[in-house]
Amino acid sequence: MKLLAGNSNRPLAEAIAGYLNLTLTKGIVRRFADMEVFVEILENVRGEDVFIVQSTSFPANDNLMELLICIDALSRASARRITAVIPYFGYARQDRKPGPRTPISAKLVANLITTAGTDRVLTLDLHAGQIQGFFDIPTDNLYSAPVFERDIRENLNGEVPMVVSPDVGGVVRARLLARRLNADLAIVDKRRERPGESEVMNIIGNVDGRVCLLVDDIVDSGGTLCNAAQALMDKGAKAVSAYVTHGVLSGGAVARIAGSVLKELVITDSIQPTLAVQGATNIRVLPIAPLIGEAMRRIAKEESVSSLFD
Ligand code: R5P
Repeated sequence: MKLLAGNSNRPLAEAIAGYLNLTLTKGIVRRFADMEVFVEILENVRGEDVFIVQSTSFPANDNLMELLICIDALSRASARRITAVIPYFGYARQDRKPGPRTPISAKLVANLITTAGTDRVLTLDLHAGQIQGFFDIPTDNLYSAPVFERDIRENLNGEVPMVVSPDVGGVVRARLLARRLNADLAIVDKRRERPGESEVMNIIGNVDGRVCLLVDDIVDSGGTLCNAAQALMDKGAKAVSAYVTHGVLSGGAVARIAGSVLKELVITDSIQPTLAVQGATNIRVLPIAPLIGEAMRRIAKEESVSSLFD
């Protein structure tokens, strides 16, 4: 078993290597003067079961290209099996045609990864479960739910929380965590009643006096979370925290979260936290390496991955 790290999240790759008692396979990613990517694997990988860890996070196109070129290099170096470990699968939000003459970029990216020579994919909390079907190779989609469940239980202080989906599209994900915690579920239903009028937030469920935990896959601008948290507080919630797998946190998101009514935002390190995230007082990062490392160990040993979530 060999483990190669792309440049998008080296600390995560190193933590996974630590979990698996491996040293990272030596390789270099260089740039030509015009920024073309050049990859060189500096160890023999012939006949090996190779895992390449790369989140296709910001800068998404560069990180995606680096992943594709690493896979091509491994394939041409006769690796026996290549598993693309993509903790954060960028482009996942473009998983359907929102209007005429628009792309389905998630499918295009799945095709690119497959065509480059990937044998299997390991990813985490895909934006929509059906993206798994965009790949015609085995694809394991892990859930951060057990990691979140453990943290929530440790920080409950006797409260019975209410798990809340910040939009109708996230209900399945929120229900999964609510079930594990044996907690109630509420839903924020955003609606624009008439064009040009501002969005109305309806809360399905009684959150009065409750400690609410918003659950989502991605926090990008932070708008969805901050607005949902405000709507919950307006309906009498006692406190609102959020558990989100992928901290994309673009632009002024960290400042927006800091200035919001959110007590705390908990994310994983599927995307390497920026200095702003590390310095934020109400953002906490949970390590995801043990979950990904264990799944990789099971894949290498041909053991069950789904039983990780029983
Ligand atoms: C949407 O379907 C996703 O699950 C997230 O709710 C969304 O991507 C969050 O984006 P933002 O933080 O920019 O509101």
